[in-house]
Amino acid sequence: MTDAPLPTVLVVAVALIDVDGRVLIAKRPQGKKLAGLWEFPGGKVEAGERPEQALIRELKEELGIDVSENCLSPFVFASHAYDSFHLLMPLYLCRRWDGVVTAREHDGLAWVKPIKLSDYPMPPADEPLVAWLRDLL
Ligand code: CDP
Repeated sequence: MTDAPLPTVLVVAVALIDVDGRVLIAKRPQGKKLAGLWEFPGGKVEAGERPEQALIRELKEELGIDVSENCLSPFVFASHAYDSFHLLMPLYLCRRWDGVVTAREHDGLAWVKPIKLSDYPMPPADEPLVAWLRDLL
């Protein structure tokens, strides 16, 4: 018997980068899957959305900031097979936004130098992205 393929979930994520070259990570809240782990902000792409639209919506909901689409640069793609689904997660870079970054849905936020990102436990899908960012920044 062959195993049925896992459902695929498309999540978009972003590395917000400040003027000092630090990257924003956000702590997943209690009560959610992977609570307490630090992730690159973002979320699921909903039906009918393009990934960039989903990211702009999520950044407003989660962090209270406004981002315009031409400030989002696609960077790398994460792909991870969790037990019950296969996550595909493009990571964008963004250096410009309007508003003050505020934790509306997370348990905390941290601005972290890329070299220090590995001190923060992350979901397995996010971990490979750290090395890419370290090489870039
Ligand atoms: O809020 P909920 O966990 O339902 O959804 P989400 O945060 O939009 O992400 C869906 C799933 O993707 C999460 O449950 C995680 O398993 C995974 N995920 C991840 O591995 N890394 C991220 N940066 C975001 C989500």
